[in-house]
Amino acid sequence: MTPCNADMILSPSLLAADLADLTTELPALEEAGVQWLHLDIMDGAFVPNITFGPPLIRALRPRCRLFFDVHLMVEDPVRYLEDFHKAGADMLVVHVEADRHVHRTLTEIRARGMKAGVAVSPGTDIAFLRWIARDLDMLLLMSVNPGFSGQTFLPEVYGKLRAARALLAEAGVQDIPVQVDGGVCPENAGALTEAGADILVSGSAFFGHKIYRKRLAAFLRATEHSPRRRAEEVASTYHHLGENHAHTQTVR
Ligand code: DX5
Ligand code: ZN
Repeated sequence: MTPCNADMILSPSLLAADLADLTTELPALEEAGVQWLHLDIMDGAFVPNITFGPPLIRALRPRCRLFFDVHLMVEDPVRYLEDFHKAGADMLVVHVEADRHVHRTLTEIRARGMKAGVAVSPGTDIAFLRWIARDLDMLLLMSVNPGFSGQTFLPEVYGKLRAARALLAEAGVQDIPVQVDGGVCPENAGALTEAGADILVSGSAFFGHKIYRKRLAAFLRATEHSPRRRAEEVASTYHHLGENHAHTQTVR
């Protein structure tokens, strides 16, 4: 099992890394104790920006043992599930706003052996979760409108986090990890885990600092008073990681 003595999992967003020097960036993340990597896939249609796709993931996969948390900001994502699977994604997260048949897509992601997540933009209600809660491995709540790194954090996500936690508990799946993405930094990380987040994505607030080990420690310190119980559950939810990309790291 991947050791997780942290109160939350930090998933740095590659988009804010030095994209011209990824062969240095990946080992630096692993040496710092990071376990997840958030990969933002943008198609220029669902969001007004274009990033990268399966070829980059395929190139990075043999270079590290990080858990590839792939955030698909792509219209009709079901078209690309197989490509991302072959490229080496561990988890695919699709936007509910971009998929007319999200239940089918989640089922197809799991059928390929990947974890399945659904992402919700700031303006989208979460009532639909009730009907797909059992088909989910992770919920992603956006705290910015998807499309760019470095945007201003929208505090409405706190209320949405609490509502999502209540809804998941009501559906009998209270252990599903919830991720928050957009404008996350050590200053809001503690309040986010307190409100129910388990996994935090950080782009600019993480990569803007040279010493990644120190930056990871700042996020972990900010969240250390949050409930440990859920972090342990998250670690066990992702326990298969230890088999796929076995590595032992102490995160602080
Ligand atoms: C936004 C992306 C985020 C973004 C995070 O569309 O999904 O993952 O890269 O970057 P920061 O932390 O800088 O907001
Ligand atoms: Zn993202």
